[in-house]
Amino acid sequence: MQSLFDRELVVITGKGGVGKTTIAAAIGLLGAQRGLRTIVVEVGDQTRVPELFGHPAGEPGAESKLQARLSSISVDPDQALLEWLQKLGGRVSGRVLASSGTFQYFAAAAPGAKELVTMVKIWELTQGQRWQRRAAGYDLVVLDAPATGNALGMLGSPQTFGAIARVGPVAGQAQRVGDLLQQPERTAFVAVALPTDMAVTEALEIQDGLRTQLGRTLDTVVVNGVLPQRFTAAELRRIAALSEKNPAAGASRRTASDSELRRSAAHAAQTVHDRARFQHNQIARLRRRDFEVLGVPFVWGAGMDLPAVERVAEQLGRRL
Ligand SMILES: Nc1ncnc2c1ncn2[C@@H]1O[C@H](COP(=O)(O)OP(=O)(O)OP(=O)(O)O)[C@@H](O)[C@H]1O
Ligand SMILES: [Mg+2]
Repeated sequence: MQSLFDRELVVITGKGGVGKTTIAAAIGLLGAQRGLRTIVVEVGDQTRVPELFGHPAGEPGAESKLQARLSSISVDPDQALLEWLQKLGGRVSGRVLASSGTFQYFAAAAPGAKELVTMVKIWELTQGQRWQRRAAGYDLVVLDAPATGNALGMLGSPQTFGAIARVGPVAGQAQRVGDLLQQPERTAFVAVALPTDMAVTEALEIQDGLRTQLGRTLDTVVVNGVLPQRFTAAELRRIAALSEKNPAAGASRRTASDSELRRSAAHAAQTVHDRARFQHNQIARLRRRDFEVLGVPFVWGAGMDLPAVERVAEQLGRRL
């Protein structure tokens, strides 16, 4: 199968809060480590990626350098529309456009305009020759897309627009964005899901949307936050036996409380084991549906920071 890192664009989506931004940052990091000039793209006022790398949020619509070969941007639809119109007309004054609420006119003209403008900017980032000649070129664009429904709306915007505007520069541009998304050798789609019994449903929901809108399927499902299976069956039997041992008759109070502690520790070990087994069963269910599944362990700690993202990247990098 073609690697994610051979594409121009990798789109990451999934339900809210499942780890899309974390996985997008980790895939961005892997791209940069493998020598690709990489940019991680956030949309909808999101600016979490620079913070994960210990950088300030940066101006909306501006590309910020995070480390060698790795940048990020939060696409600002107003700014993106301005750049696009300037590219189309050449003579449009930025200040006039900004002050006259051009975006509102454009956005009011048709549903999905904001989504299309965002997608056009993402397409532009994949281009070797950028709108602004001095702008850096990227080998890999990693899109931290919004949650499933909104992401599908955004990815379907070239088709929505293509149906409205059949000719002219907008139609032409919509077609180019649509081509990028439809061609498997250029764009990959990654779903992120938590290891719950909803994971299969969520992956199928995204898959169905991709099929209907783009004739595409998911390349990979990342199951995020998986607990490790620490014990073998034999070890669990020994742990259970430990908790059953009663203190000998006449034992001290200390021994009695030790045995209580043993019981709770054994119970905790068994509970975590059961939870991990349940999660691994969910991964197996996804694999039976023929999804390519990558598990990412739950990272313990105070919160997601660069070392934590690096650990996630290392884990993903073994299989990607
Ligand atoms: N593998 C992991 N181990 C532990 N915590 C994680 C892991 N992945 C993500 N998290 C934490 O879970 C929370 C949600 O992660 P993240 O922000 O990446 O999700 P998201 O899908 O982008 O959310 P949103 O839909 O709000 O954009 C964050 O607090 C993050 O630090
Ligand atoms: Mg996010």
